[in-house]
Amino acid sequence: MRYAVLGTGMVGQALARKLRALGHEVAMGARAPDNEKAAGFAAETGGLAMDFAAAAGFGDMVINATSGAHALDALHQAGAENLTGKVLVDISNPLDFSVKPPVLSVVNTDSLGETVQRAFPGSRVVKTLCTVNANVMVDPARLPGEHVIFLSGDDADAKAQTRAMLEAFGWRQIIDLGGIDSARAQEMMLPMWLRVWGALGTLDFNWVLTRRPDQDPANR
Ligand SMILES: NC(=O)c1ccc[n+]([C@@H]2O[C@H](COP(=O)([O-])OP(=O)(O)OC[C@H]3O[C@@H](n4cnc5c(N)ncnc54)[C@H](OP(=O)(O)O)[C@@H]3O)[C@@H](O)[C@H]2O)c1
Repeated sequence: MRYAVLGTGMVGQALARKLRALGHEVAMGARAPDNEKAAGFAAETGGLAMDFAAAAGFGDMVINATSGAHALDALHQAGAENLTGKVLVDISNPLDFSVKPPVLSVVNTDSLGETVQRAFPGSRVVKTLCTVNANVMVDPARLPGEHVIFLSGDDADAKAQTRAMLEAFGWRQIIDLGGIDSARAQEMMLPMWLRVWGALGTLDFNWVLTRRPDQDPANR
């Protein structure tokens, strides 16, 4: 599979490197084709470094790991023509860091996931992984026990492809929350996530969802 990972930060690096380790062809996208972090990824892993548009054009599946404040700018630079028909995995969180603690710039009746889907109606947006730290995203086994990750999206096949990627990362408890409107719920976990980070003093945690064994749902 050919993946485009749009974003050179912690998340982009973690995902691109994991996908390379799993044997995929991976292009990391940045604003500039000579971005140093993307070049470092390419040199160290044999992956590719490109600008957003070239990377999106390369990928069969595109992952948005850009800053929430600039995700739409980055995706417009990637180009609707390079995203149409493709699964677009959206990991970005709409955090406004101009205030402390950061607040959600879109919330309650809308989400960044839905905003991305509206802006790129030809792409098949799946929101996931935004509720955990980058290291946990690609290595859930670093935390003990069974812990949970979520999927939101309108396209069943896109969610199935995303689920397969998550399973390859080691995720076992994957909860499908429903349509892309359920991205609101995932993104609204972020204020709580930030407070738990502050309380625990570590990024290495995740949510555990427990229930009665006789009510174990098919939805996992
Ligand atoms: N860090 C985590 O563990 C974590 C966990 C869950 C979710 N998330 C979410 O995942 C996303 C990525 O997080 P991150 O910490 O890896 O990186 P980040 O610093 O939030 O974003 C870095 C990326 O955003 C791009 N960017 C910044 N300003 C831009 C602009 N004006 N126009 C277009 N692109 C711009 C950068 O492009 P260049 O490469 O060209 O500089 C870079 O690729 C964020 O939305 C974050 O909320 C992060």
